Amino acid sequence: MALELKLASEGVAGFRTPLLAIAMDDKPGAATLPELDRALGGALQRAVESHEFRGARDEILHFSGTTSGPGRVVLIGMGKTVDRPGALRRAAALAARQARKIGSGELAFHGGALGEKDLEAVTVGLIAGAWEYKDLQTPPPEDERRASLTRATILSADSDDARRGLAAGEAIGAGHALARTLAMMPGNLCTPDFLASTAREIADRHGMKLTVLGRAEMAEEGMGSFLSVAQGTPQDPKLIAIEYAGGKAGDKPVTLVGKGLCFDSGGISIKPALSMEDMKFDMCGAAGVLGALDAIGRMKLPINVVGLVGATTNMPSGTAANPGDVVRSHLGKYIEIINTDAEGRLVLADLLSYARRFNPAVVIDAATLTGACVIALGHTATGVFGIDDTLIGEVIAAGKRAGEPGWPMPLWDEYRELIKSDVADIKNSGGRPAGAITAAMFLKEFTEAYPWVHLDVAGTAYSETDLVALPKGPTGIPTGTFIEFVRGRIT
Ligand code: BES
Ligand code: MN
Ligand code: ZN
Repeated sequence: MALELKLASEGVAGFRTPLLAIAMDDKPGAATLPELDRALGGALQRAVESHEFRGARDEILHFSGTTSGPGRVVLIGMGKTVDRPGALRRAAALAARQARKIGSGELAFHGGALGEKDLEAVTVGLIAGAWEYKDLQTPPPEDERRASLTRATILSADSDDARRGLAAGEAIGAGHALARTLAMMPGNLCTPDFLASTAREIADRHGMKLTVLGRAEMAEEGMGSFLSVAQGTPQDPKLIAIEYAGGKAGDKPVTLVGKGLCFDSGGISIKPALSMEDMKFDMCGAAGVLGALDAIGRMKLPINVVGLVGATTNMPSGTAANPGDVVRSHLGKYIEIINTDAEGRLVLADLLSYARRFNPAVVIDAATLTGACVIALGHTATGVFGIDDTLIGEVIAAGKRAGEPGWPMPLWDEYRELIKSDVADIKNSGGRPAGAITAAMFLKEFTEAYPWVHLDVAGTAYSETDLVALPKGPTGIPTGTFIEFVRGRIT
C-alpha cells in the first residue's frame, strides 16, 4: 500500500499521533522542544544530559509519550550533518522502519525547519522506510497482525516550497518503490513480458511513447548479440523503449539504458548453485530505468528522456549459445562468446547500438554487470566507468545528491588487450583480472556515437544483509542517480 503523506505545522507537544519521530544532529538539544520535554516530564532533557542520547548517526531512543499528544516518541540521531538532506533522508527511513517494527500504522516526523530539498529528502526517506513486499506471504491472523505504515505527517510549515518538496519526494519515492518491487519479485513473476507490461503502464500513465521488440523484431534488426543470450529460453525476450518528450521538440534526449536479466543462471557456463537465487536481481539496472521514467513522468520534468531496457533470462538448454560461438552484433562487430555467463554485456551491446537512433545527448547505462565490481568496491559504491571526466563527475555528483555513492574506475586503452579475440573482433570475457573494467571496455566498443557513462551496480543494487536504513534486498539503486542526473540536465 502506498504511503499517504501530508504536512502539518502544529507544535510537536500537542500533536496527536501514535508515534512521533524526532531527528536530531550530534548536538541534540531538548531545549529546542521545551513543551514536549515538559509534557514528557523532562525525559528528553535527562536523556541528552546523561548522554544516553548523543545524536550519533542511526542512534535510536524510544520514550513513552502522553495521552493528549504523541503516544510514543522516538529520537533518531543524524550525526554530523554536512549533507542535511542526506541525513534527513536516512533518519526518515529509520523512523519509518521503527514504525513498522512496532506496528504503528501512522507516524509524524519532526526534523526542525525544513527547506524544499529537506522536505523532499524526508519524503523519499519515509517512503523508502515504509516500503515492503508482502504479496507472497500469507498474513498472520487479523488479531495478531502488525499494521503496515500507511500514513505519515511531516511537521513543517505548509509553504509553496514545502509542497513542491513533498510532491517531488513523492514522485521519487514512487519511482524507487517501483524499482525495488520489480527487483524483489521472483523471476517466475517478473518476466520479460512483465517488465514490458510495467513499461506499458508507465507509458500510458504519463503519455509516453512505447516500443517493444520481441525475438522476431530483434532478429530483423540484426541483434545477434542480445539474441544469443535469449537463445536458451522459450520466453520471448523484450527490448523496451520508452520515449518521454517533456522538453523541446528536437532536443537530444538523455538516454537511460538498463540490463534486465530476469534471471541469470549463467547459461551453458552455468553458475554454482550457492546463491544462484540472487540472480533474480540481475534486472536492477532495468528496474532503475523504469523507476526513473515513472518518477520523471510524475514530476513532469521539462526535458526529453529515453529509457531502454533489455529483458530476457539466461538459460542453459539444447538451443543455448555455447562457449566458442561467434555472433554478429547490431553494430556489425563480431563477438566471440568465451563465457555465456558474461551475458549482460551481450545484451547491452545491442541496446547501446540501438540507442543511436534516438540521437542521444548522453547515454548512461546501469547493470548488475560483474562480480568483480563487488570485489573492487564492495557494497558501498557503484563503479562509474567512462572516458569523459566531466561527465563522470556529473554522474557521481548526481549519485551523491541521491544518496547513492559512486566511484570512478579507469577505462584505459591498455585494458583493451584483455578482450582481443583470435577469431572475432572482440571476446566477451577477459577472465578474472580487472573483470569490471574489461566488461566496461567491452561496452565502450558499442558507444562511439555519443557521450557515455556506465554504472556497475552489482554490489549496490541489492544487499544480502540487513542494512541500517534498509532491509536486506533491493536498495533502489540506480533509480535515484538516474533521476538526479536527468534533473541536473534541465536547462
Ligand atoms: N549478473 C552477473 C554479475 C553479478 C555477480 C552480479 C554477482 C551480482 C552479483 C553477470 O552476468 C556475471 O555473471 N558476470 C560474470 C562475468 C564473467 C563470466 C566474465 C562474473 O562476474 O563472474
Ligand atoms: Mn552472468
Ligand atoms: Zn548477469
